[in-house]
Amino acid sequence: MCGIIGRVGSDNAVPYLLKGLECLEYRGYDSAGIALFSAETIESYKTVGRLSGLREITERATPVGCVGIGHTRWATHGGPSVENAHPHFSHSKRFALVHNGIIENSNELAESELKGIEYNSETDTEKAVHLLEKYYNGNVVETISKVISLLKGSYALGILCKDHPDTLFCTAMSSPLVAAKTADGGFICSDAGALSAYADGYYPIKNGEICVLTKKSIEFYDQFGSSIEKKAVSIDVGTLTSDKQGYDHYMMLEMLQQPDAVRDTVIPMIKNNGINIENIDLTDDYIKNELHEVVIVACGSAYHAGVVGKQLIGSLANIRAQAEIASEFRYTEPLIDKHTLAIFISQSGETADTLAALRLAKQKGAKILSVVNVCGSAIANESDNVIYTKAGREVAVATTKAYSAQLAVLYALAIRLARGKGTMCAETEKRMTYELAALPQKIQQTIDRNIEKAEIYAQRFSKATDIYFIGRRLDYAASLEASLKMKEISYIHSEAYAAGEMKHGTLSLIETGVPVIALASDGEIFGKTYSNICEVMARGADMLVVTTEKNKHLVSEFKNTFIVPDTLPEFTVSLQIVPLQLLSYYTAKKKGCDIDKPKNLAKSVTVE
Ligand code: G6P
Repeated sequence: MCGIIGRVGSDNAVPYLLKGLECLEYRGYDSAGIALFSAETIESYKTVGRLSGLREITERATPVGCVGIGHTRWATHGGPSVENAHPHFSHSKRFALVHNGIIENSNELAESELKGIEYNSETDTEKAVHLLEKYYNGNVVETISKVISLLKGSYALGILCKDHPDTLFCTAMSSPLVAAKTADGGFICSDAGALSAYADGYYPIKNGEICVLTKKSIEFYDQFGSSIEKKAVSIDVGTLTSDKQGYDHYMMLEMLQQPDAVRDTVIPMIKNNGINIENIDLTDDYIKNELHEVVIVACGSAYHAGVVGKQLIGSLANIRAQAEIASEFRYTEPLIDKHTLAIFISQSGETADTLAALRLAKQKGAKILSVVNVCGSAIANESDNVIYTKAGREVAVATTKAYSAQLAVLYALAIRLARGKGTMCAETEKRMTYELAALPQKIQQTIDRNIEKAEIYAQRFSKATDIYFIGRRLDYAASLEASLKMKEISYIHSEAYAAGEMKHGTLSLIETGVPVIALASDGEIFGKTYSNICEVMARGADMLVVTTEKNKHLVSEFKNTFIVPDTLPEFTVSLQIVPLQLLSYYTAKKKGCDIDKPKNLAKSVTVE
């Protein structure tokens, strides 16, 4: 995680650095800092906590310099403190450096190459800056090349060298970094979207590449220091930074954008009353004769979308399917081969564990398909096939619209696979496609019908210390996501349980007044879930039930309900998650939590 920015130009770099860091704050917000050339020296300004603190410091100190680097941190090695905040300096102050990623051999370097060196921080980053100093031979590109031969792990580095006050250097290894040239200079940045106001195109810095940027030129070198040519990629307008459009939080704006996100994602996949996903290599022949198994791998909410996907692919297409957490999957010996379709789901397209899992699956010969929201991201680039969710830029750390768009892709994929396997007739495909196309409108109805209730219920929920979510089958899959939303933004402990599993231990935690949210939309097994509801009610639970219009008569005895429109049972997750997102939002708001930037979290997780 962490965000890095660098600027070379003819005017003061500080406003550019601060603006860039503002766009990158979603990557981490434990501390922020900048360094810039001022006369003959490199000055730095750092603070613990949010960027607003750094703004105040720079407003007071009014630093001026045309070349600088900036950093917003998500702490890995060493807690949030001014000492651990970037930029870091070599002892002579010749080099200043900002870093995103993890230098995995930091401890070994301290015992070997850097033995005897004293450190100013607890960070892994500092090792890199001392190595630059140690190997400096007057040529910065050669020095960087030497240093990256010693570093292990993932890193993007932005570097200033006192001997080159008009130049910005950077390099990257398995970590997102782009450089852009503008008329009067240029930028380096962790996210091309943050540069969209200044440049039309950017150069992704790939593994080991080194970029040298001055007011007049941009040059690239490979990891051995040989000059290379690179082609610019255009900045996708989808990555443009939006504002909150009058809402208090991005999360609220993004929840309300869900009908559009789903519509924009689904429409391009519908043709002739059926599903037609263009530009992906899933032929009927492949699905019917070669595909034996699907494995879906992801992290966080994307994994929860995968849990839905696995159930639907299994039930609609009759294909063996599993959903795996990427950080676990990457350290297993998965039984996959060329007959496996491995699906990687990621909003950012850069989650380190998901990317590593993708590489493992590729190595094992699986066909790779990714479902990604950010065009040109690492996961998209390394996949054989990509389906883009069209959720647009998502800023709130807790995902809402990207998750909904991921579900929509998985519905379409399950239908496509079912047609290929011959388990779904044209009539059923037509009916399901029709219902898929109607989802955006039903999500809107769900919002309209439940938003006020969510705010009212939140008054009670905000006083809870524990909240339990229960459901079966797809209701359980939705519970996982609902519980994650609640805990990540409201800081209330919450857990999702397969409803039938409560009696095997968790029931002992239920006592008078403990909130339990039952997702009970599954008509086929409503009776079973209902029994579990009775079991927790009998222990005094404060019950809230989520169900569909069709089933609402079954829950008429409950005072607190969210009722969502009817759709096909396969798609109900997309509706029932909405009031629960709203409930989490209002609960967190009532508690005064920092909703868009929950403590200890970051939107884009580029470390293990
Ligand atoms: C972080 C975000 C989650 C997201 C997860 C996976 O934890 O806060 O919202 O689901 O990372 O991210 P990805 O970008 O791969 O979907």
